[in-house]
Amino acid sequence: MSAKFPSTRLRRPRSSDWSRRMIQEHILTPNDLIWPLFISEGSNVKDPVTSMPGVFRFSVDNLIAEVKHAKALGIPCIALFPNTPASLRSERGDEALNPDNLINTAMRAIKDAVPDIGVLADVALDPYTSHGQDGLLENGHVLNDETIGVLVQQAVVQAEAGADIVAPSDMMDGRIGAIRGELDKAGYAHVQIMAYSAKYASAFYGPFRDAVGSTGVLSGDKKTYQMDPANRLEALREVELDIAEGADSVMVKPGMPYLDIIREIKDAFKVPTFAYQVSGEYAMLVAAANNGWLDRDKVIAEALLSFKRAGADGILTYFAREIAEKMND
Ligand code: PBG
Repeated sequence: MSAKFPSTRLRRPRSSDWSRRMIQEHILTPNDLIWPLFISEGSNVKDPVTSMPGVFRFSVDNLIAEVKHAKALGIPCIALFPNTPASLRSERGDEALNPDNLINTAMRAIKDAVPDIGVLADVALDPYTSHGQDGLLENGHVLNDETIGVLVQQAVVQAEAGADIVAPSDMMDGRIGAIRGELDKAGYAHVQIMAYSAKYASAFYGPFRDAVGSTGVLSGDKKTYQMDPANRLEALREVELDIAEGADSVMVKPGMPYLDIIREIKDAFKVPTFAYQVSGEYAMLVAAANNGWLDRDKVIAEALLSFKRAGADGILTYFAREIAEKMND
């Protein structure tokens, strides 16, 4: 036997840094990041979210500085989530339609002060309802079509305030088509829709509900509209419908426990597909890093790269600023 065994050696190209870089299949850049930010009333507020160390609720004045920084780092888009004071929450969530509510005020200020950064607004009623559900309640049931009647108005009000992307996170049936139609009618044909298409009824949203002040508020769960974590074919049906109704891009949420779903959606539909690394994923990684159990920088980079490998075009992540700073170094 002349040739040495084995003839194929996958370790060969792995043997040096220059070669490893050369065969690398995926890369994370600031262009892949959407940064979710929490907004609070008042001025000069930087209020820590207890269950998300390193994440804050900013008043609009302080938020502007963060958004400027994000733009300088090359982050293409931010996502805004208001912490609505309890006094403004109601059974029907009317504050969602107030053109001068917290998120709309923030969007106008951002559009004024920081041109050329994308602004994404969540469409759903949970930051505004006294019961914490994403839609209108009747006898404990979240109404579908009646909720859509409100969501379309919420989307138009957000578009008026400057939203570049509206992202319905409510999981009502038929809302994408209804919102697209209403936006077009109101003169907002240019506003994109990123559909939270495969949004699971997940326990990983816990810290987010803390951040937006709806933790003690939520009655029951969201299983009649968010998906069962056991299901995958249903996710493909959700995406198919949302695309047919006019979604420009789709999202899978949470992220890391659902990488298989991202891959399947990307393979099947070939549309811009986003992953949301949610609050609980952030909290887990930070908790382990703060205990010295995981290497913070390395696990953040590895977790975010996994979304790219799974087929995601971009990631909503609370680590956006931190990782973009590293990448800019
Ligand atoms: C609201 C909404 C939620 C998240 C984004 N939009 C919470 C929920 O559905 O209860 C969760 C985000 C996160 O956990 O980071 N519809």
